[in-house]
Amino acid sequence: MNKGIKLDLSKVAPYVQEKEIMNMQSDISIAHNMIENKNGRGNDQLGWVDLPVYYDENEFRRIKIAAQKIREKSDALIIIGIGGSYLGARAAIEMLSHSFNNILPKDKRRNLAVFYAGNNMSSTYMYDLIHIVEEMNLSINVISKSGTTTEPAVAFRIFKKLLERKYGKEETRNRIYVTTDSKKGVLREIADREGYETFTIPDDVGGRYSVLTAVGLLPIAASGIDIDEMIRGAGDARLECRIEDLQKNPAYQYAAVRNILYKKEKIIEMIVNFEPCLHYFGEWWKQLFAESQGKDNKGIFPASVDFSTDLHSMGQYIQQGLRIMFETFINVEKPRREIFIEKDNENVDGINFLDGKSIDFINHQAFKGTVLAHNKGNVPVIVLNVPELTAYYFGYMVYFFEKSCGIGGYLMGINPFDQPGVETYKKNMFAFLGKPGYEYKKKELEGILD
Ligand code: PA5
Repeated sequence: MNKGIKLDLSKVAPYVQEKEIMNMQSDISIAHNMIENKNGRGNDQLGWVDLPVYYDENEFRRIKIAAQKIREKSDALIIIGIGGSYLGARAAIEMLSHSFNNILPKDKRRNLAVFYAGNNMSSTYMYDLIHIVEEMNLSINVISKSGTTTEPAVAFRIFKKLLERKYGKEETRNRIYVTTDSKKGVLREIADREGYETFTIPDDVGGRYSVLTAVGLLPIAASGIDIDEMIRGAGDARLECRIEDLQKNPAYQYAAVRNILYKKEKIIEMIVNFEPCLHYFGEWWKQLFAESQGKDNKGIFPASVDFSTDLHSMGQYIQQGLRIMFETFINVEKPRREIFIEKDNENVDGINFLDGKSIDFINHQAFKGTVLAHNKGNVPVIVLNVPELTAYYFGYMVYFFEKSCGIGGYLMGINPFDQPGVETYKKNMFAFLGKPGYEYKKKELEGILD
């Protein structure tokens, strides 16, 4: 793999033979051509494939200018969005920022604080968020492709009013940035009416594939991350992950192995990290695979765990519970920071055997020990070795997983680019809330859950 990212399949070997992987070449070629020739299901949603090279240059420039303005004007950015309209940005920001960025004293902080709203309907969360940010200098980036999603719409109304009270309408205009459809939707209408600066989510890019558009790029750039590097990483991944030959394409190998394991009734995949800052990368990854492949009564259930934390909770099940799972470890080879253990003459805690060792060294022995233990417990393990936590590798991983997910969806015979299932709960919720147009649903639900 380019620039040092490496897919290690040696620990799936007892469960998946190399020959089985290579036998997938003809199916992979069919899926590959469906994406390259844009003639498969969901082919109107393939804009993400070429984003690293064909992204609108003018928009990219405006993103950088807006990001700089946000940084100059504000102590805090509130990112309002849900699902694909926020998880990518959060994954990047948490992976690449100081672990405690928001509570760093101002003189020690290089970046503004970042908060997230509109990703849940909890009044407690909203109240507490208002409480913490109301005295800060704020900017908002509200992101919604449809412009009608309830969670961000509610949060935006609340924060728009808060800003208008705090700064007046005129100055609020300099602090609200809207990312939405180029023409449709209520959010577009509000932005046009109020004169907010807007950025576009391309029609042919679905939410969960949109982190390399303004959806992710604006908040990520505003939080001080180098988006040129991110796009460079995604661009290198694009080149490597569009080679038809399975032997040379790690994204296709990953898709093939997942598919083989799925057929062998390994129906749960856990993405595993040993770095807390990758927690939201796992959340982004779960959405990508759940919404893309979980349909038509098919799909591997995507889960995530943070190790070594969850080794003390989920670890028991993984080692000895139902044998229906496999793991994909993201192994970060070099930590961003390092700390060494000092010798203690009294050694009451008994850990002098770690004298002079780094915390990361210990973390890596935990990683190695876990891979072997789980493998011995009949859990196939895939390892993705990532040299460093940088914007380049974030971009690379995003593209790698997106391509793998699209190809894997076609291998399963489903449309990986729609998400019809997420509408069902919304219809019920709107009926219960009395939203105009949902009276028919209200009738169907009468007497249920009253
Ligand atoms: O991936 C998806 O399509 C979804 O997760 C959407 O991003 C999410 O539902 C938010 O939708 P919208 O951007 O229209 O507010």
